[in-house]
Amino acid sequence: MTEPAAAPPAPTSPPTGERPASSIWGGRFAAGPSAVMEAINVSIDFDHRLLPQDLRASAAHAAMLIRQGIISETDGNAILAGLARIKAEADAGTLPLERALEDVHMNVEGRLAALIGEPAGRLHTARSRNDQVATDFRLWVRDAIDALDQAAEELQTVLIGHAEAHAATIMPGFTHLQAAQPVTLGHHLLAYVEMLGRDRGRLADCRRRLNECPLGAAALAGTSFPIDRRQTAQALGFERPCANSLDAVSDRDFAIEFLAAGALMGVHLSRLAEEIVLWSCERFAFLRLADDFSTGSSIMPQKRNPDAAELVRAKTGRLAGALVQLLTVVKGLPLAYAKDLQEDKEPVFDAADTLGLALAAMTGMLRTATFQTAQMRAAAETGFPSATDLADWLVRAKGLAFRRAHHVAGAIVKAAETAGCKLEELPLAALQAIEPAITDEVFSVLGVERSVASRTSEGGTAPERVREAAAAARLRFLGDS
Ligand code: ARG
Repeated sequence: MTEPAAAPPAPTSPPTGERPASSIWGGRFAAGPSAVMEAINVSIDFDHRLLPQDLRASAAHAAMLIRQGIISETDGNAILAGLARIKAEADAGTLPLERALEDVHMNVEGRLAALIGEPAGRLHTARSRNDQVATDFRLWVRDAIDALDQAAEELQTVLIGHAEAHAATIMPGFTHLQAAQPVTLGHHLLAYVEMLGRDRGRLADCRRRLNECPLGAAALAGTSFPIDRRQTAQALGFERPCANSLDAVSDRDFAIEFLAAGALMGVHLSRLAEEIVLWSCERFAFLRLADDFSTGSSIMPQKRNPDAAELVRAKTGRLAGALVQLLTVVKGLPLAYAKDLQEDKEPVFDAADTLGLALAAMTGMLRTATFQTAQMRAAAETGFPSATDLADWLVRAKGLAFRRAHHVAGAIVKAAETAGCKLEELPLAALQAIEPAITDEVFSVLGVERSVASRTSEGGTAPERVREAAAAARLRFLGDS
């Protein structure tokens, strides 16, 4: 989601045999790493995704070095121009990436040297890969949060739209997956709008805490160069520099918080996906997915399978796994940086990709789905849905204790079951045979329409409340009316 316009070409490895010492840190080494050492150490295969952030952070660092008089303006400008060329090469998909250079940071520096020569070596003044990668990664996660927030808002927009259209559409409300009391479809959909609202809140909260800049912490202890950390922090849109250099290079809380928020969002999407699976099956038939969000069977021609919903449901496993993965990497790491921390990126990239795709699939599925309101209504009529309304009426109108009213309503349900009719179809005499206090006023509360219309308590399912709730949700979550 935060990829450069064109993916860089696949990284290349040098031919086996001759392995010269690293041109970057090879000063004290006579030979290069073994093939296995390179294989376990290399990260360019995945951290090339930090390229846009690495270029931004490097440019901010170079500009600060110039302003502080730490490098000359001539060298600094050559570095800035070189970084811009690398960006253009990356966008065009022509930037060469080499596995021998380990990671994205070394690749950028190596390419800069090839493009501008000697001044390239001055970019790394007062900086280490430790504060560099921590900065790049924070920028990446921040971009990912912004993209996911937008995607979640789009899903909320679709849900709120359906909620408005179906504020008075009656469906069974379930407990234990058994029809419990009738509710409105709009009310049901707005429950997911609330969940997504909390998910967005958690991402925003993570973003707020993340927004401090590690750059300038250098390897771990800070630097003796007269840098200005506030300049780089501000140039990169951070609120302030991280307060402690050891914490700055070793903290990955921001990534863990992102994964925790993402795992919970995944759980919410999975619950919604499960409802889509249930609702689109022929026994419920509450919802029909559009052709372009259904899949067929290779053997059973009649099938319309909700594969996208099933995959959204299943992808929760990856999201929860990513969280556990990174928690386990960081647990027990002594301060400050250790190479273990290179394992922070893949779970985060995978979680961000997974959530982006799951949100898009959910939004697409729901935008194009049709709610089968007649089936919902028919299902709401079965199973004596106004039994609670009857008990409540006996309490309200006739002064019975609720436990007594519950018992009476139960006996009336039994009578209707025996007679094979709805509660409101029982003759008054049959009702009075069970409870003599009942009058024909009782019929004013029986029936699903009356049931939902009566549930006007704040946050309740009555159509008028749902219309208000949808309007309020627009203001709270979409920033419009
Ligand atoms: N590729 C490394 C990572 O992602 C960059 C930092 C390397 N630092 C070091 N001291 N070896 O963590």
